[in-house]
Amino acid sequence: MAAERWVYMVTAQTPTNIAVIKYWGKRDEVRILPVNDSISVTLDPDHLCTVTTVAVSPAFDRDRMWLNGKEISLSGSRYQNCLREIRSRGGDVEDKEKGVKIEKKDWERLNLHIASHNNFPTAAGLASSAAGFACLVFSLAKLMNVEEDPSQLSAIARQGSGSACRSLFGGFVKWKMGSKDDGSDSVAVQLADEKHWDDLVIIIAVVSSRQKETSSTSGMRESVETSLLLQHRAKEVVPKRIVQMEEAIKNRDFASFTQLSCTDSNQFHAVCLDTSPPIFYMNDTSHRIISLVEKWNRSEGTPQVAYTFDAGPNAVLIARNRKVAVQLLQGLLYYFPPKSDTDMKSYVVGDNSILKEAGLDGENSVENLQPPPEIKDNIGTQDQKGEVSYFICTRPGRGPVVLPDQTQALLDPETGLPK
Ligand code: DP6
Repeated sequence: MAAERWVYMVTAQTPTNIAVIKYWGKRDEVRILPVNDSISVTLDPDHLCTVTTVAVSPAFDRDRMWLNGKEISLSGSRYQNCLREIRSRGGDVEDKEKGVKIEKKDWERLNLHIASHNNFPTAAGLASSAAGFACLVFSLAKLMNVEEDPSQLSAIARQGSGSACRSLFGGFVKWKMGSKDDGSDSVAVQLADEKHWDDLVIIIAVVSSRQKETSSTSGMRESVETSLLLQHRAKEVVPKRIVQMEEAIKNRDFASFTQLSCTDSNQFHAVCLDTSPPIFYMNDTSHRIISLVEKWNRSEGTPQVAYTFDAGPNAVLIARNRKVAVQLLQGLLYYFPPKSDTDMKSYVVGDNSILKEAGLDGENSVENLQPPPEIKDNIGTQDQKGEVSYFICTRPGRGPVVLPDQTQALLDPETGLPK
């Protein structure tokens, strides 16, 4: 029947996030329930995001998904859990113009097409699963007219990937570990929106890596099984840090924010070292960046830049304001210049208007950089070409949004197949 050929779809955009108090360790592997609370900053989706189009049609014969243009299997339990949870909450949907009429009970039998795209290279080792699962759940909730609020949706995204639950909000977000066995109270809540502390500038150094890293999922499983430091961290250390970090964010207290972020990142990597066999996520370049920031902060007397590293060698650096970020970028480019003949606009991406402010938009501008005055000793000389693949300049950003512009959809409105 012609009337049954309709395709009904929604496109949404969801940000990624970086934890400043880390999630590392699960108490329930299936429901993805953590051993401690965590806190993150949402990154501006203009620079790092996932866009997902979800479509439903009586013409689809099975659920299908395409990630960055390639069809992938939806048979894994994480996808299945998210799809089952969201389907069971679907409501009535009607679009008279298109002849669409879906009742609550229909969601169990209607098939879905899902196309998802990251605006940053997956190979960069940036948390793409966080934005990906958050976007899947958020876009399906819109398509299916689900009434749940973002915190309730976060409990579904959590079952795709733990850190995904924090991408349902902009600004500063806490994932409460919860105490119930069914995980219904293990949800994300917003601590403050992205405008609350908009002086912050975030520079990510995408560090080149030769080795294949242990995935977060298996890494944290091994830490839970073998690290006594993890037990101590979850019980004694993180609960106090969470209270202090919430206070630091509320008061825009950059000194405390930096102290807490840096020590928490370092403790997470110490837990990885305390795991048997040990897991090394940071490399020499990561360590060199830490030294650079530590020296600078000490010489200034008060912290200027916070650092944090996830399950890989990339450095996420948070500068207290734009002026500091400009100086930071100059220092970073002095120590980690691009390979010869690299265009600066492809070496510093995201908000690359910072290049002009740093006087780095002209020819030979990197060669003319002076060593940062406070770093006199042998932190490394200006010969680290190629150690950093590129930098991304960004800031705290907003939460998920629907993209109403049909031209941004990743699926064809007639066929429901990738464009
Ligand atoms: C180091 O959320 O990727 O980035 O729940 O197994 O999918 P799964 O793990 P994932 O772990 C993220 C770990 C981290 C710290 C953090 O984001 O809090």
